[in-house]
Amino acid sequence: MTPRAVPGRFITFEGIDGSGKSTQARLLASRLEAAGGEVVLTREPGGSPGAEEIRRLLLTGDPGRWSAETEILLFTAARRDHLERTIEPALARGATVVCDRFADSTRVYQGVTRGDLRALVDRLHEMTIGREPDLTILIDIDPAAGLARAGARGGEEARFEAFGVEMQARMRRAFLDLAAEAPARVRVVDGSGPPEAVAARVAEAAGA
Ligand code: TYD
Repeated sequence: MTPRAVPGRFITFEGIDGSGKSTQARLLASRLEAAGGEVVLTREPGGSPGAEEIRRLLLTGDPGRWSAETEILLFTAARRDHLERTIEPALARGATVVCDRFADSTRVYQGVTRGDLRALVDRLHEMTIGREPDLTILIDIDPAAGLARAGARGGEEARFEAFGVEMQARMRRAFLDLAAEAPARVRVVDGSGPPEAVAARVAEAAGA
């Protein structure tokens, strides 16, 4: 009989648009891979074929396309599919999963834009997702710098990037509040400076 694999580690990256978290997720995944063992680098919304289809519905088109309630359901539906099809199977075979955004993004983005819906976000999470990462790296950056980076990127997925600097500042505050509420899970990493310098801080925070 083959011994059962030890469950892998589930690491998520969070931060405001333009924080550089996607680059950092990639760099940490490469570093962990170089150290040996399987690493699955994935992202939300998306990360499985079904969830990528939902991503397209969420991130393209008219900004008023979905009500806030429908949007929360879509993000959660995408997350459930991603969890079932990609994250849980990978963890079960002992892989490390590095995921660009997860439930904290819904808590912050949907919670900040529609604070009255935070209870819905939390109840849906509890009912249909029910798990937290082992470690969350919050890449913290000045909102004006983040906006400049995100704006320079362009592309079609601009629905959520039309936020002004004031909204970005509120998102940053909300991420930092979440980090303070869950200090054992969330590590805040200074996202300023060159990517390699940030990557070194991330590696230290992840014990990699
Ligand atoms: P993402 O592709 O990570 O964009 P970026 O690289 O700019 O961070 O995420 C797309 C957008 O979706 C981003 O603006 C944040 C938003 N989002 C939510 O509003 N709620 C969520 O639950 C998730 C996962 C993302």
